[in-house]
Amino acid sequence: MSLNWINRAERIKTLPPYVFARLDELKAGARKQGVDLIDLGMGNPDGSAPQPVIDAAIAALSNPDNHGYPPFEGTSSFRTSITDWYETSYHVKLDPDSEALPLIGSKEGLGHLALTYINPGDVILVPSPAYPAHFRGPLIAGAEIYELMLKPENNWLIDLQAIPSEVARKAKILYFNYPNNPTTATAPREFFEEIVEFARHYEIMLVHDLCYAELAFDGYQPTSLLEIPGAKDFSVEFHTLSKTYNMAGWRVGFVVGSSEIIQGLRTLKTNLDYGIFAVIQKAAETALQLPNSYIEEVQQRYQVRRDFLIKGLAELGWDIVPSKATMYLWVPTPTGINSTDFALSVLQQTGVVVTPGVAFGNGGEGYVRISMIADCDRLGEALARFKKAGIVFQ
Ligand SMILES: Cc1ncc(COP(=O)(O)O)c(C=O)c1O
Repeated sequence: MSLNWINRAERIKTLPPYVFARLDELKAGARKQGVDLIDLGMGNPDGSAPQPVIDAAIAALSNPDNHGYPPFEGTSSFRTSITDWYETSYHVKLDPDSEALPLIGSKEGLGHLALTYINPGDVILVPSPAYPAHFRGPLIAGAEIYELMLKPENNWLIDLQAIPSEVARKAKILYFNYPNNPTTATAPREFFEEIVEFARHYEIMLVHDLCYAELAFDGYQPTSLLEIPGAKDFSVEFHTLSKTYNMAGWRVGFVVGSSEIIQGLRTLKTNLDYGIFAVIQKAAETALQLPNSYIEEVQQRYQVRRDFLIKGLAELGWDIVPSKATMYLWVPTPTGINSTDFALSVLQQTGVVVTPGVAFGNGGEGYVRISMIADCDRLGEALARFKKAGIVFQ
């Protein structure tokens, strides 16, 4: 029964539909009909967290001290393991008490950061395409979003020169993410230097999402925003354990950077949540301390899948630029069909789920994203189904 006096707030009513939720409904429908789905839709890694992480969680679970409310700002040992990890990875020292904050997944932190810093009507710069939380958080907070259209001819980098100076002067926050979801683009260090200069000039807070920090191939090493001198004064960077450590369901990530920005986020969060289960913080700590050989193994796994898929798709006529990082392929759709219709037709004809680029904003139209979240046997099966269904790309 629906009651006419139960009304959602305008901020929810005006949100565009979340394409992943719609895809979930379609997947459920297909499964009900007995379709053997190959789900390459979400960025949800296959397999479980590494064994030492599971062992650490089991050990922590049997300690009753871990069963109460955790400290709001995360355990001191997890925060220290974050700053140790950050220093080892990027050679930058951070203060574990004020410059690192554990999150219930980076999506949670991104959303709450928007509520902490955005007033209705504030101008916020967000690339298109982008990971949806980068624009949905600001939309919920009432932001006026100025879309920075990413283009293949610019290697999917933000064109800072194309931002009108009157927009830049009004802008409060700029969100960005390299290695990029969904385009898989990477940004050279000079780009980071330019964006820091731009933000300093126009007094804009920078929010960088380094979710795919370790999923890099062919020896490529992504840059962290906080490596750029001075960036830490007005920037934060989000990290997650979901991807590298197969811990998407555990809900754990963190933000590092400006102590002032982090303090604001912490203030909001103390009013809304109690932080992360201490058992999960222990497990996350263990993950961050895993030897480099674990990371190399993960990189190798995705690199093998990338090469396998690109070769197989090339045989079907698809010309794809190999990703230097991330767990995705960003694939142009055939001419004459939009990304949603194409993804739906692929699902209907083959039972393979891919994500329409438009799910990431208008700038993603004309592409679909394929997640490399299945082993080569399963990817081979997907390729065989594409071939049988005559899914051609030109
Ligand atoms: C760029 C980006 N940031 C954040 C997330 C979400 O990470 P978490 O699981 O930590 O919320 C994703 C997940 O796909 C992502 O692609």
